[in-house]
Amino acid sequence: MILVTGGAGFIGANFVLDWLAATSEPLVNLDKLTYAGNLHNLDSVQGDARHIFVQGDIGDTALLARLLAEHKPRAVVNFAAESHVDRSIHGPEDFIQTNIVGSFRLLEAVRAYWGVLPEGDRAAFRFLHVSTDEVYGSLAPTDPAFAETRGFEPNSPYSASKAASDHLVRAWHHTYGLPVLTTNCSNNYGPYHFPEKLIPLMIVNALAGKNLPVYGDGMQVRDWLYVKDHCSAIRRVLEAGAPGETYNVGGWNEKPNIEIVNMVCSLLDELRPRADGQSYRSQITYVKDRPGHDRRYAIDARKIERELGWKPAETFDTGIRKTVQWYLEHADWVANVQTGAYRDWVETQYEQQPVPAVGASA
Ligand code: NAD
Ligand code: DAU
Repeated sequence: MILVTGGAGFIGANFVLDWLAATSEPLVNLDKLTYAGNLHNLDSVQGDARHIFVQGDIGDTALLARLLAEHKPRAVVNFAAESHVDRSIHGPEDFIQTNIVGSFRLLEAVRAYWGVLPEGDRAAFRFLHVSTDEVYGSLAPTDPAFAETRGFEPNSPYSASKAASDHLVRAWHHTYGLPVLTTNCSNNYGPYHFPEKLIPLMIVNALAGKNLPVYGDGMQVRDWLYVKDHCSAIRRVLEAGAPGETYNVGGWNEKPNIEIVNMVCSLLDELRPRADGQSYRSQITYVKDRPGHDRRYAIDARKIERELGWKPAETFDTGIRKTVQWYLEHADWVANVQTGAYRDWVETQYEQQPVPAVGASA
């Protein structure tokens, strides 16, 4: 038995589905069901007795103590977080509460549980904290990719809150001996990605005939990993990672945002051409930049490749095609997540008028 937190969100739900397909081991899935949590992501495992869903907060100490005592997990995988950088700029409070205070409470509850396990179970127990490459800050064009040895320089309220949680996890290992593992992953994409993030937003806006809002000059670089590859990396780290270690996870897929948007448009032009025969690229609109926008992220994934033998299965070309196809085949899922609350956010975030950017062309 393992305990997964945040398993109704994008990566967590993909992880739960993968776990139940790849292993026979049951799991408890603790999720608060914020705007980003969606039980429809888990429709295909409804009725599977190995999946025990509990709605609740990682900051709820009493609930955590009860779940740990009742289910006696051999590992905890912590996905639960506020995850959207733009939302953290509009309102950081929830990020502090969940990503820092929530992670602290979870660590404390797990430490109390782990501390009284029988000797063999104590040694075998693992706490895996899922984190991000954003803790390392921003790279200049010629800088080497982020290695695990790089110092933390978080720039947004989101990345600062994640960096704080990474530090807590590290401290709980060094001070109390809790057998922790931390993964720092690059940008994920794939099925069940909430359409406030770049790739799904571009797909759903394109199909709805809306603008495709590109921040600033669109030349910011992100390093993309298909979500199923992130899930397989987490399973591998859980299985073979050394307690106290951190592992960077990435697929060596650095791309400027505008290239990503153009690729999405090209795939849609092929798979669902516009009725008027024009390319979806004509919907690209350059808008005001994100405040404090990190220019470039890139992951050096050699440690996890070398020490744990993990490699991604998808290239960006295969992963992005699967992703666009998934959204075309799941219009009902998209419609379902575009509730009033979603519309409120999109209207707040994109209310600004488009501004022309240097080199911008549609
Ligand atoms: P998401 O926003 O899609 O999902 C987060 C989930 O956590 C939701 O189901 C939400 O209901 C739940 N949650 C939020 N607050 C909670 C709380 N207090 N208690 C319990 N559950 C709570 O996020 P995601 O993109 O799936 O990211 C998952 C994790 O992976 C996060 O920790 C994030 O920092 C990290 N990460 C994400 C990416 C990425 O590209 N999306 C990359 C690297 C790391
Ligand atoms: O690097 C890992 C991180 O990737 C995770 O830790 C975060 O949880 C996850 O949300 C993601 O953060 P980003 O800020 O990189 O993702 P987002 O999809 O919001 O933006 C990707 C890039 O696209 C970024 O440079 C901003 C830009 N962008 C985004 C949106 C939503 C646009 O140009 N237009 C948009 O409308």
